[in-house]
Amino acid sequence: MNDFKEKINILAIETSCDETSVAVVKNGKEVLSNIVSSQIETHKQFGGVVPEIASRQHIEVVIQIVEEALEEAKTSLSDIDALCVTQGPGLIGSLLVGVNVAKALSYALDKPLIAAHHIAGHIYASNIDNDIVYPSLALVVSGGHTELVYLKDELNFEIIGSTHDDAVGEAYDKVARQLNLEYPGGPKVDKLAKLGEDKYKFPRAMIDSNDYNFSFSGMKSAVINFVHNANQRGEEIVPEDLACSFQMAVVEVLITKTKKAIINLGVKQLILAGGVAGNSELRKQVLELEQELGIEVLIPKMSYCSDNAAMMGAVGYYYYKNNIFSNPLTLNAKSTLDLEEINK
Ligand code: KG4
Ligand code: ZN
Repeated sequence: MNDFKEKINILAIETSCDETSVAVVKNGKEVLSNIVSSQIETHKQFGGVVPEIASRQHIEVVIQIVEEALEEAKTSLSDIDALCVTQGPGLIGSLLVGVNVAKALSYALDKPLIAAHHIAGHIYASNIDNDIVYPSLALVVSGGHTELVYLKDELNFEIIGSTHDDAVGEAYDKVARQLNLEYPGGPKVDKLAKLGEDKYKFPRAMIDSNDYNFSFSGMKSAVINFVHNANQRGEEIVPEDLACSFQMAVVEVLITKTKKAIINLGVKQLILAGGVAGNSELRKQVLELEQELGIEVLIPKMSYCSDNAAMMGAVGYYYYKNNIFSNPLTLNAKSTLDLEEINK
């Protein structure tokens, strides 16, 4: 750690999917601005994210979002110490927009460039208003990921379990489609579920398997088949009960595996991360583990759960502290990127 300054302002850019977001974050903790421009209104008419449209929309708004983030933070590019960008994983065309803006700014301003991992950002979102204490365990649940991650130390990740097929958010979005709910359906299924009961008792896939892996494709198909069969027989389905039954099955599997990992690894802290961390039942049951297992649970506030640049600025600070920088002339975006290979 050479020449480490007391105050590090990072301008972070996140464009991995359908949110164009830019933030200014001081010392990984103080979010001076966090502007998020969502494309949901555009994509919902297609029932999901259309990659070509997503990248084009990022290009249209990204510079304006950079300006807004600087303005809201009451700062200017000369006060920025480093640029941080999501390098991956994500949609390649979308990632490339953020990566190229960050490269250009880094080169033109002669300021260091940080290429950060999207999931590391989701995890470090919990470090903004709280402190991650190592070793810790993160349950990462998003539209593209479902993983249990053991954090041995700062930026030291080990994936101990993951999904064999669909990510939780993906399964939620597909069940939502079955219920004719608009994209992204996860939050809408969650809302419906609160009004229903777990009447249909869908299978809890892999709940007893002797590992930390998951499978949500079968659970999603069980719901879809149930609806088809009921329609064929002319039977009525109560959407609230269907949503609740799916939600209770998913959350029970997530909680069971997470509990097992907490006990076996002896961690004292659990971090909930990713867009599905906004799920009401998951939040409730994860918080119950505080009492039950005597651990601390960190859940980011809602605006730091879904994709945003503040979380990238939060993790970018630790890249900076550990001197993990990238070359602004050669950096490339990566649609797949290994979380375990962050090189300290
Ligand atoms: O992390 P995120 O914003 O984007 C990715 O990196 O994937 O996660 C988005 C996913 C979507 O699938 C969305 O439906 C799901 O998170 N989601 C939820 C809830 N809020 C967002 N799923 C279930 N319940 C929620 N309350
Ligand atoms: Zn995400």
